[in-house]
Amino acid sequence: MIQECAKFFIFFGAPGSGKGSLAGMCVERLGWRQLSTGNLFRKHISEGTELGNQIDFAIKSGKLVDDEVVVKMVAGWVFENISSTKAIILDGFPRTLVQAQIFMDLLKKDFPNASVSVVKLEISDEKVIARLSSRRTCQKCNAIYSVVKESERGPQVDNVCDSCESILVQRNDDKPETIVTRLEVYHKHAGQLLRFYEQLGVKIETMNVEKTLDKVFENFITLVGDGSDYCKE
Ligand code: AP5
Ligand code: MG
Repeated sequence: MIQECAKFFIFFGAPGSGKGSLAGMCVERLGWRQLSTGNLFRKHISEGTELGNQIDFAIKSGKLVDDEVVVKMVAGWVFENISSTKAIILDGFPRTLVQAQIFMDLLKKDFPNASVSVVKLEISDEKVIARLSSRRTCQKCNAIYSVVKESERGPQVDNVCDSCESILVQRNDDKPETIVTRLEVYHKHAGQLLRFYEQLGVKIETMNVEKTLDKVFENFITLVGDGSDYCKE
């Protein structure tokens, strides 16, 4: 059965703002679903699929993957997953006006009772550069860590994933020059996307994320709730 009352949260923030970390907490603690286009693309690359070979260069250089490719993959994922959850986090999608337009049209046509909110994560570019330079991720389960000494997100054993015990790696788009490109790409599209959501009357929640991750999660729940009453509204 389709959960027509499903809520979509578009996590809208610069690379390194913490979209994946916060989404991971929502999945773990609230049982929500996360669609990370970046994670899906990296999986294709590591498995050497045809799509993976096609997008490898764009990801390595911090550029965007073709809108058409992204939208096709997202639509497939949504149709497959919407029935199994009441809230879906879109982590890293939509990233361009074209993606946003196609996605909103898809919802209107196929899931008219689903609702959408944008959660805007605010952080300075300086903080982003510091966070991404010290990020490590688990290649197997995508868990996200930080090697900053005092970080609450450090792994218990150096370079080993707490959840699945695989080795942690540095993403190959976390090189300084690629981080700069990714930030430029983000800022290039941000204003246009926000204006589009405003014109459509989509709710935009803004959060300062220059706080501990636990505090960010707490603020997020205060803003949007924990999902327990979503399907009753
Ligand atoms: P994607 O994987 O989506 O990368 P991104 O948007 O650049 O974002 P990141 O994953 O780097 O950062 P994040 O916000 O998730 O932060 P995280 O939680 O890891 O996309 C990669 C590439 O795929 C794109 O460049 C593009 O090529 C392609 N792509 C993807 N989607 C696409 C689309 N829709 N269209 C076209 N192309 C697309 O946190 C970062 C670090 O900070 C971690 O170490 C974490 O521990 C730490 N941290 C997080 N929160 C806190 C906190 N509150 N305090 C302290 N440290 C924190
Ligand atoms: Mg991420």
